[in-house]
Amino acid sequence: MAVMSQRVAGFGTTIFADINDLARAHNAVNLGQGAPDFDGPPEVLAAAVTAVNSALNQYAPGIGMASVRRAIAEHAQRFYNQRLNPDTDVLVTSGATEAMFAAILGLTDAGDEVIVFEPVYDTYVPNLIMAGVAPRYVALRGDDWSFDPDELAKAFNSRTRAIVINTPHNPTGKVFSRDELSMIAELCLKHNVVAITDEVYEHILYDDASHVRLATLPGMAERTLTISSLGKTFSVTGWKIGWAMGPAELVHAVNQAHQFITFAVSSPLQAAAATALKLPFSFFENLQSSYQARRDRMLEVLRRAGFKAFKPQGSYFIMIDWRGVAPSRVQDDMQFARWLIEEVGVACIPASPFYRDSDKYLGKYFVRFAVCKKDETLDAAARRLARLGNI
Ligand SMILES: Cc1ncc(COP(=O)(O)O)c(C=O)c1O
Repeated sequence: MAVMSQRVAGFGTTIFADINDLARAHNAVNLGQGAPDFDGPPEVLAAAVTAVNSALNQYAPGIGMASVRRAIAEHAQRFYNQRLNPDTDVLVTSGATEAMFAAILGLTDAGDEVIVFEPVYDTYVPNLIMAGVAPRYVALRGDDWSFDPDELAKAFNSRTRAIVINTPHNPTGKVFSRDELSMIAELCLKHNVVAITDEVYEHILYDDASHVRLATLPGMAERTLTISSLGKTFSVTGWKIGWAMGPAELVHAVNQAHQFITFAVSSPLQAAAATALKLPFSFFENLQSSYQARRDRMLEVLRRAGFKAFKPQGSYFIMIDWRGVAPSRVQDDMQFARWLIEEVGVACIPASPFYRDSDKYLGKYFVRFAVCKKDETLDAAARRLARLGNI
C-alpha cells in the first residue's frame, strides 16, 4: 500500500532536524539552526503572561486581533512610511512560514510559475510543489551573491504568477539593494506579476546596510505582499507569530487559504506581539549593535580558523567556503558539517539543501553558521574553531 502521497514523497527530512540530532549526539556547540539561545525582551515575555492571565485564551479573530493588526500597521508606518489599513491590509499568521504557504495557495494556480532566488530558503519550493506550481530559479552568485539581470529578465514569462524575494537573505546574508529591487519591480510591472517578500530579518542589518521594503517602491504597493514575523527580531522563534501585509485584494486572497489552514493564531502570543512591535527605537538600535558585535566577532573567528567567510549585510548568518581547512577525505558540505560536529564539536548547516538537485554542486563548498547565540556559546565555538587555525 502506498501510504505517502506523491506530493510529499520527494521531500526528505529538513536538514535542521538532522543537524540538531547529530549536534546533540556529539555535544557540539550548535551554530546550526537560526534560533537564538537567549530569551526575548522581558516586557514582551511579561505581556504574554499577562495575556494568559487576562482570559485571552480563546480563538482570536481569523485575520488577527485588532490591536495586533494596528500595531503591525503602525510599525510599517514608523519604519518604512508604508500606509496600511489595519482592518483590510494586515493578516496575522502562524509565523512567516504559514504566511508564505497561504500566500502561495491564495495567489497562484496549479501550472503557474513562481520565480525564486537560489540558494533558496528551504520552505518555499516544497510550498510551491504542494500548490502544483513550478519554481523558476535565478542564481545568486559571487562574493556579493548578486544575480544576472538578463537571467532574471528571462525567468519572467507568460506563466509567471509571482516572484519571492527574501531580504535580508537566508542563507547568504545578502541584503537586496535598492537598485536590485528596482530592477525586480520593473519586471513585475512589465509582466503583471505579484511580489511576495519575506522580510523576517528586516531589523538584523550590518555596517551601513539598509532594508528597503519592495512594497514602497513606485508602483509596487498594489502588487506586493510583505511577510514578516516576530520570531527573529524579538528572539521568540518558538512563538510562531507572523503576518502578511499588502493591498486588501492580495491579503483577502491569502486569508482565503489561511482561514482553512490554521483559522486563527495563538491569542496571548498575538497580544504580546503588539507590545513588541511598539518597543521604542532604542530597542531596535540595541538589537542591531548587539548583532553587529556577534557578526564581527564570528567573522573574525571563522577567518582566523582559515575559512573564506562571506561578509553578510544582514540576517543571522555567515556563509563560509570550507575548502582548504578540512582533511582531503571531506568531499562535500554534508561531509564537512558531519566532520565539524564529530571532530571539532561545532555544528553548522550545509548549503546544498538550499539548492535544487541539479544545482547541489553549487552549494558543495559552502556551509552556514548562525550568530544568534549568547556570548558563552560563541566563546565555546570560538575556542573549538581556534584548533583549526593558529589563533
Ligand atoms: C527566511 C526565513 N523565512 C521564514 C522563517 C520562519 O519564520 P517563522 O518562524 O516566523 O515562521 C525563517 C526561519 O528561519 C527564515 O529564515
